[in-house]
Order: sequence, then C-alpha cells, then structure tokens
Amino acid sequence: MQKFIITGGKRLSGELVLQGSKNSCLPIMAASLLCSSECTLHSCPKLTDVYAASRILNCVGCKCSFSENTAVIDPGNVSCTAISEELMREMRSSIIFMGAMLGRAGECIVSVPGGCELGPRPIDMHLSALRKMGVEITETGGIIRCRTPSGRAKGTRISLAFPSVGATENVILCAVTAEGDTVINNAAREPEICDLCGFLRACGADIAGDGGSRILIKGKQQLHGCEYTIMPDRIAGATYLSMVAASKGELILTNACTAEMEPFLSVLEQTGCSIYTSDDRIYLRSAARLKAVRDRIRTMPHPGFPTDAQAVLMAALSLADGTSVFEENIFDCRYRHTGALIKMGADIQVLGKVAVVKGAERLFGAAAEATDLRGGAAMVIAAICAEGRSEISRICHIDRGYEKIEEAVRLLGGDMRRV
Ligand code: EPZ
Repeated sequence: MQKFIITGGKRLSGELVLQGSKNSCLPIMAASLLCSSECTLHSCPKLTDVYAASRILNCVGCKCSFSENTAVIDPGNVSCTAISEELMREMRSSIIFMGAMLGRAGECIVSVPGGCELGPRPIDMHLSALRKMGVEITETGGIIRCRTPSGRAKGTRISLAFPSVGATENVILCAVTAEGDTVINNAAREPEICDLCGFLRACGADIAGDGGSRILIKGKQQLHGCEYTIMPDRIAGATYLSMVAASKGELILTNACTAEMEPFLSVLEQTGCSIYTSDDRIYLRSAARLKAVRDRIRTMPHPGFPTDAQAVLMAALSLADGTSVFEENIFDCRYRHTGALIKMGADIQVLGKVAVVKGAERLFGAAAEATDLRGGAAMVIAAICAEGRSEISRICHIDRGYEKIEEAVRLLGGDMRRV
C-alpha cells in the first residue's frame, strides 16, 4: 500500500499547469461510444478513474489507447452491452456508461455503481428519466437491465427533481441519438456539462441551452468522431490555490478556466489573498495569515460554491484568523476529513450539515487515512502547513483525481514523497 510522507512548514511558490478535468473526461470518454469513427481526446488527466473508464470501453469492445495525455478511442465495434459488476464498482461515474450504451446499442446491463464514500448516492433520477424516454428497466440484486423496444430511446420532456450532474449527463447521452427531441428542465449547469455538450456538438449532435437550466436536444441517427481538448480541472485548481494560500505562498496557475472557477475564487479572495485573473491564468499571493470567511460558505449546484472544493478550503481555513462556517448541501457525508484535520490540531465542530471552523495558530504532523478524494486532498494541505511529519495512507482515493500531486507539491518547493 502506498503512502504520502509530508514534512510540513514550507512556503509553496511557483507555477503550475492545471490538469484536464476528471469530471469532464469521464463522461466524454463514455460519449465517444456514440460515434461511428475514432475520437482523439487531448488533455486527459492520468488518473486511476480515467484508466477505469478505458477498461469499461475495452470491456464493451472499443479500443482505447493513451499516449501521454492524449487518448485515442475507436468505438467502431461494440461487441458486448454488459459491463461487469467488478468494473462498475471501480468508480461511481461508471453509471454514465448506461446512457451512452443505450444511445449506442439501445440496450445495456450494468450494476449499481460503487463508491458510497460521500453517503447514499442513489440513481433514482437517472432511472426515472430514462424510463420516461421509453427505456424498459428491471433491477434485480443490484443488476440493472435496460432495453429500448425499438432499439432507440424516444425524445421527451424531462424535469429533474434536483439538477443532478450524473442524471443530466445520462439523459444527454441517451438523447443525442434518440428518436425525436428531448428537453431537460432543471438540468445541471456545471461547466463539465457544457464540456460534454461541446464534445457532442463537435461529433455532430444538435444540443442547445447547456450552461442553463433548460437543455434542448434533437436526436440524430449517428454521430461521427472528432478531435477534442478536455477543459481544465476547476477542482484541482481550487485545491492547488487553497494549498498555496494556506502555506502563505504565491502561485501562477496556467491552463486555468478562470470564469468557471469564479464561485470558488470569490470566496477565496475573502481570506485576504490577492488574486488576479487573465484569460487562462490565475495569480495568487497569500496574506501573511489567512482571514476567516465572514459569510457562511454554502455548497450549492453551479454557479454556487462547489461541494468538491469544500474540504480543501476547510483545510486552509483551519489555520485562518477567526471562525468560518460551512454548510454542506449536496452530500450527506462530506465531512469525513474533519477527523484527520482535528487530529492535526484543527478546531472543527460538525453539527449535521454545518461545520464550524475556528482557526488554529498551528497544526501538527500526524498519521491520517484518506477517507475520500477531496477529503484526502484536504489532509495533504493540512500536512503541508503542519509542523513536522505526516503520513497519509489510502492514497488510492487521492490518485483518483489528482495527476501526480506529489510532483506538483515538490515543484512548488514542498516536501512530499510517495513510498
Ligand atoms: C458529480 O457527481 C461529480 N462526479 C462529483 O464529483 C460532484 O461532487 C457532484 O457531481 C456534484 O457537483 C462526477 O462528475 C464524476 P449529482 P454526481 O448527481 O453526478 C443526489 C469529485 O470529488 N442524487 O449531482 O454523482 C445525490 O445523492 C466527485 O470529483 C439523488 O438523490 O452528483 C447527491 O446528494 C465527488 N438521486 C446530489 O443528488 C439521483 O438519481 C447531487 O448528486 C442522483 C443524485
């Protein structure tokens, strides 16, 4: 089992090129199944979740090869419509292959996806939306069998009870090659939805309204392959900015999606950091000591404050001057990192969906276990700012979302090793 060994107390400074977005890359890899010819995807992050998606593509008969950050996917021969339980369990996002397989083959057998680390993560909205599109679905013992009687789903009007990212993606993937038009009301507005739609349009799909709450899709018989560059990862960006801010350092982040990161940047700025943005660059200079954020930080669907940035900002604010309050509104169990932060000396009280963080004068190195992807990244940030040595285990969670995080930290002058 690999671990990170971090010796804290170093001020981080330098320049980083932001990786491509995991949460864009995974649905776009699934979407390539809908094409009749090869897709070339640039800026794919080298992550275990991305390799899990490529194993799913291989399992259904598609070739997928990587050369550095470029993936070439040949969706020519889909020979199998069942995805094994083992592959489905590897990551939660495996569920978006359901919509893609339905769009491609009109049928699929999948299972309830793995990863309950953030609390219960039901897929009821995915299933009811697909049923409304004429997909017959049966669920037995965690196995989900889907088929469309005519071989193609039917366009319809869908109103999501909540703007779920995954449900919006599954409906889009099923609708682009469905018969007729689909309208999604209360669609998720996350930038990664726009990136998926941008890719699908480059493949010939007819989609409008993404980025807003109402997405309109006109079904097409077939899509073609294309060459596409995945958008930058706004959550990895929020992580490195929180890390450098907490270390009292300075960062130039390039290949950054500045507009999409604004909900996070506007909160980070309240800590007293100087932040300047231009096109695809963010410059941050930290304050001598961060200030607590005065307004309650409420996680909300985009363009609200992202739930994925809650843990990493909390790690930074655990050393700020004053008290900050978080309210987690998206997932039930997204404070699992607080135990490790408290062990390192942070003063955090969790009461249901609220966490009250009283800034401590200092943190101390400790042994901690990554509980989930962003929670693990929060522990790395706390360890970088702590006095002494920390050991972070179960780093498989961190490797799901950060491309060589230890190399990025070392590049900025930090002391972090993988053993
Ligand atoms: C996506 O997860 C992201 N994952 C998550 O990032 C992110 O935290 C989340 O969106 C919110 O922004 C990927 O893109 C791969 P949801 P997803 O469906 O699609 C409930 C990370 O750290 N819900 O918008 O699973 C659900 O339980 C990951 O990179 C239902 O009740 O999120 C949750 O409370 C973690 N029924 C809320 O909606 C459903 O059918 C939001 O979930 C679907 C969702």
